[in-house]
Formats: sequence, C-alpha cells, structure tokens
Amino acid sequence: MNSTDYSIEPATLADVNQLVVLEQTLFLTDCCSRKNFRYLIQHATVIVVRTEKTSTIIGYAILLKRKNSRKMRIYSLGVAPSTRNTGIGAKLVAALEAIASKATCTTLTLEVSDNNKDAIRLYTNFGFEQYGFRYGYYEDGGHAILMRKNLPGPPPQTS
Ligand SMILES: CC(C)(COP(=O)(O)OP(=O)(O)OC[C@H]1O[C@@H](n2cnc3c(N)ncnc32)[C@H](O)[C@@H]1OP(=O)(O)O)[C@@H](O)C(=O)NCCC(=O)NCCS
Repeated sequence: MNSTDYSIEPATLADVNQLVVLEQTLFLTDCCSRKNFRYLIQHATVIVVRTEKTSTIIGYAILLKRKNSRKMRIYSLGVAPSTRNTGIGAKLVAALEAIASKATCTTLTLEVSDNNKDAIRLYTNFGFEQYGFRYGYYEDGGHAILMRKNLPGPPPQTS
C-alpha cells in the first residue's frame, strides 16, 4: 500500500468496533477487549492507520506512559494481514517514537512473543535490543522477549 493511501491519526471512541475486529485477526491470545480499547483511547495514546478511500482501520498501536517516569511502553501494535510488508508497521513504530520523544521520554520498552519473528525483526531494525525474557508471560503460556530502545531525549536548552 502506498503511503498516500492512508493516514496515521489518534484513535477516537468511534473506532472501537473496528479495532476489536482487527485485534481478533491479529492475535490469538491476550487480545484487547472492547472495554480495554475504550479505556486506552481515553487514558493512553492509541493511534490508528486509516485508509483514505474508505476510512477502514488497517493498523493501530498503543503507547503507555508510566507516572513520574521517562519510560514509555509499546503495549500493542499490529497491521491487517492484507496490507503487511508495505511499510505500515515501520510507520507505526516511527510515529510512536516521535510521540514518545515529544513527551520527553528517554526509553521505550515492549514485550514481544519469542516466536513472533516478523515483529522482532521490525523492532530490531529500529534499534530495539533484548534486555530480558519472561517465561509463560502470555495467557497461552508463551514466552516474551523484553526489548528496549533509548531515545535521544529533548535537545539541550539554549540560553
Ligand atoms: C509485525 C507487524 C506489525 C509488521 O507490520 P508490517 O506492516 O508488515 O511491517 P513493515 O511493512 O514495515 O515491514 C515488514 C517487512 O516488509 C518490508 N517492506 C516494507 N515496505 C515494503 C515494500 N514497499 N515492498 C516490499 N517490502 C516492504 C520491510 O523491509 C520488512 O522486511 P523484513 O521483515 O525483511 O525486514 C505485522 O506483521 C503484524 O501486525 N503482525 C501481527 C501482530 C503482531 O505480531 N504485532 C506485534 C506485537 S508485539
């Protein structure tokens, strides 16, 4: 898909139905429910990839901020199977990095299934590195690789 065929923008509560449907095509376990999406849209950062022609949501990502911390966590990210391998996943990661940098975040963290080769490659290409491993992290007993990336942080103040 060409990057002019879609836009990346903040999610609204009107997107919840589409997000729930997309989520079920993306994950077999640990899916976000309707209630989760409603909460996250109101209390965290949720961005969606929307086609220009039909306003269909073909991707999304969720970023969480911890209180009193410069760390942020990529909680979820996914692209509809029919539009993968066209650079949308990379655009989502770049958008989250930009949001995190603007919020003066210095470290981005995430968990990814140890058998999710596509996602691990995507994050590695962006400079994320493994710093830990959690056995049985997911609802189905699957294991998670913990990854993180340091962000440059805000430029020094000039007087
Ligand atoms: C992981 C995931 C988000 C990647 O999304 P994506 O949109 O396919 O990612 P991209 O298109 O940016 O990159 C994927 C590959 O396509 C390649 N690509 C990008 N644009 C391309 C283009 N125009 N033509 C051909 N290939 C292209 C990239 O170089 C990359 O190749 P690589 O894997 O060999 O490095 C997607 O597979 C997904 O949603 N998986 C299910 C949900 C999931 O696992 N989420 C992660 C949870 S932590």
